[in-house]
Amino acid sequence: VVDIRKLYAQTGMFTYDPGFLSTASCQSSITYIDGDKGELLYRGYPIEQLATHCDYLDTCHLLLNGELPNAQERTEFHKLVTNHTMVNEQMQFFLRGFRRDAHPMAILTGLVGAMSAFYHDSTDINNPEHRHVAAIRLIAKMPTLVAMAYKYKIGQPYIYPKNSLSYAGNFLRMMFGTPCEEYEVNPVLERALDRIFILHADHEQNASTSTVRLCASSGTNPFAAIAAGVACLWGPAHGGANEACLNMLEDIQAQGGVSKVGEFMEKVKDKNSGVKLMGFGHRVYKNYDPRAKLMQETCNEVLVELGLENDPLFKLAKELEKIALEDDYFVQRKLYPNVDFYSGIVQRAIGIPVNLFTGIFALARTVGWIAQLNEMIGDPEYKIGRPRQLFTGSERRDVKPLA
Ligand code: ACO
Repeated sequence: VVDIRKLYAQTGMFTYDPGFLSTASCQSSITYIDGDKGELLYRGYPIEQLATHCDYLDTCHLLLNGELPNAQERTEFHKLVTNHTMVNEQMQFFLRGFRRDAHPMAILTGLVGAMSAFYHDSTDINNPEHRHVAAIRLIAKMPTLVAMAYKYKIGQPYIYPKNSLSYAGNFLRMMFGTPCEEYEVNPVLERALDRIFILHADHEQNASTSTVRLCASSGTNPFAAIAAGVACLWGPAHGGANEACLNMLEDIQAQGGVSKVGEFMEKVKDKNSGVKLMGFGHRVYKNYDPRAKLMQETCNEVLVELGLENDPLFKLAKELEKIALEDDYFVQRKLYPNVDFYSGIVQRAIGIPVNLFTGIFALARTVGWIAQLNEMIGDPEYKIGRPRQLFTGSERRDVKPLA
């Protein structure tokens, strides 16, 4: 690793690296990825162990504070988040301004950005207490906002959070409960959703996290910075891939299913077709994405629980994966399934509509964005982010006034 800042100070030389292929934008001690080994650690803990032994709020505590909570800290942290799950009642009027057929990510970007208009006592990004309160509010209220966006879309009344439920259980109830009857949380689905949240909680300097850091580096408020992250995540090359992946699987299914996989793969390999195998490939993982393995396991469990073992999309996904792992095109380019390849099938089985998948991702990633934002603001060397450019336009020239 070359610290190019010294070279810049001495010579004015800087690097040209579009897409940040070989440029570290910061130092971080939060998440470690070994792309060649297919390893992911949050604060040193392997993702497999966290997904097995901890819940999402334990993981939030770890990402935010650097350590897993002890028993007392765990109770206090859970209580703190639970006590902030309701949103300002005025926000529902703001929500009503959106068209009901708006994409949930459009709504969510607006709602998260609007939080700075409702919670004035947590908008000073340089004040650690403000940042702490903003962090808890964002983690606690994201499920409420995502569920509200969904209920608004389908024309049902909002369901208020219930503090006795777990983070994931509460979200399931706000999504699928109605005022007409008690909602029973299915523990298998609750655990599956919690695992989706854990697997998406942080992933070092990806596009949306880098967006949050860059946005926050100007000193804007934490809600505005997180809204920028939500907006970035929406893209199909990033968080939108889970939605794009499920749409892709449904398209192949509609065209004939497993028998059409070979034909589809030929299209993917033809660069002129513009077709990509969504849910495959990763900038950093050049081996299996460890999250995809865990997601495949969860997918199995959920489908068995719901009696959907023969789900055609799951079969299709496994067939696509099998062919890709044997095909030279994918092998040479080290393309493996990423977390989004199976998460869409799990979410769809739970009953989550496809266009809400990226909203679920945003909900889960919020803690990672905040942890990264806190780390940056707390770094004495932090400066406003200001990439350089290689200018390719016209040389200096003079305006010729029009006659
Ligand atoms: N399907 C087919 N070919 C692919 C795919 C894919 N999904 N991904 C990469 N390739 C090919 C590229 O065409 C390129 O081929 P070439 O060397 O012949 O030109 C080669 O593999 C390298 O790909 P790049 O685009 O250079 O890889 P990059 O690191 O820039 O992109 C990305 C990574 C954006 C994730 C890409 O793999 C992709 O678009 N995947 C599909 C979308 C997706 O699943 N995104 C989710 C990422 S995970 C997340 O955000 C949670």
